[in-house]
Amino acid sequence: MGILDNKVALVTGGARGIGRAIALAFAGEGAQVAFTDIRLGGEADDLAASIRAKGVKAMAIQSDVRDFASTQNAVDAVEKEMQQIDILVNNAGITRDNLLIRMSEEEWDAVIDTNLKGTFNFCKAACRQMLRRRQGKIINIASVVGLIGNAGQVNYSASKAGIIGLTKSLAKEFGSRNIQVNAVAPGFVDTEMTEKLTAEQKKALTDLIPLKRTAKAHEIAAVVKFLASSEADYITGQVICVDGGLTM
Ligand SMILES: NC(=O)c1ccc[n+]([C@@H]2O[C@H](COP(=O)([O-])OP(=O)(O)OC[C@H]3O[C@@H](n4cnc5c(N)ncnc54)[C@H](O)[C@@H]3O)[C@@H](O)[C@H]2O)c1
Repeated sequence: MGILDNKVALVTGGARGIGRAIALAFAGEGAQVAFTDIRLGGEADDLAASIRAKGVKAMAIQSDVRDFASTQNAVDAVEKEMQQIDILVNNAGITRDNLLIRMSEEEWDAVIDTNLKGTFNFCKAACRQMLRRRQGKIINIASVVGLIGNAGQVNYSASKAGIIGLTKSLAKEFGSRNIQVNAVAPGFVDTEMTEKLTAEQKKALTDLIPLKRTAKAHEIAAVVKFLASSEADYITGQVICVDGGLTM
């Protein structure tokens, strides 16, 4: 028996990193798991096999979160194959870091379109059935920089602050339909997204974290799993920081 038995979850940008850890955590609790990514390849095949190895259904879907039509197709495919979507995790995200003075319009647009518009797209496409069924959990992956800012990331931190505003507004719109909408704000997590940092930059960052270490993806997934379960039925509109104490 798992805490997500008979639930269907959809995770965006799930082929690697935090999304992958979330997909595996859900499968480990008995959920059927569909995940999207902009490109499907070996990583996605491995993940689908690992999900199935836990005894639940898996579905890998090629979809670009920036494109509403592609998003709607992904949601339709999951609803056709798995009948419903109980849990939506908006995880797909990118960085294009630069100081504002050097940041191009393309860098701004790419990050806002992927992180913020992508979250809007999937919430809009997946909510129809949730509203009809009067149940659902939406978990949006924000970031601590959406709360505290970060030099060199005006695009990324604006997108994540936007996700927090979207989360709170949607929690108010959907509360009466028994749909909980929350955000998880990770601090610094060891994934490909953060691999570009130099050892020096990583040390400077770690020194600021009360727990004196970065996070593993499964530590973010554990909180997402809790928010996706019925244990969290009375939690909505919240931003849960999983950051080793960085933003307290
Ligand atoms: N790693 C960190 O330290 C950290 C910290 C805070 C928040 N986050 C957030 O966590 C989420 C996952 O990050 P990660 O570290 O696992 O990154 P990652 O780069 O390892 O994984 C992101 C995934 O999203 C996919 N993706 C990118 N653009 C897409 C698009 N247009 N459509 C569909 N999929 C797309 C990528 O292909 C990739 O599989 C992101 O929203 C990120 O902003 C990460």
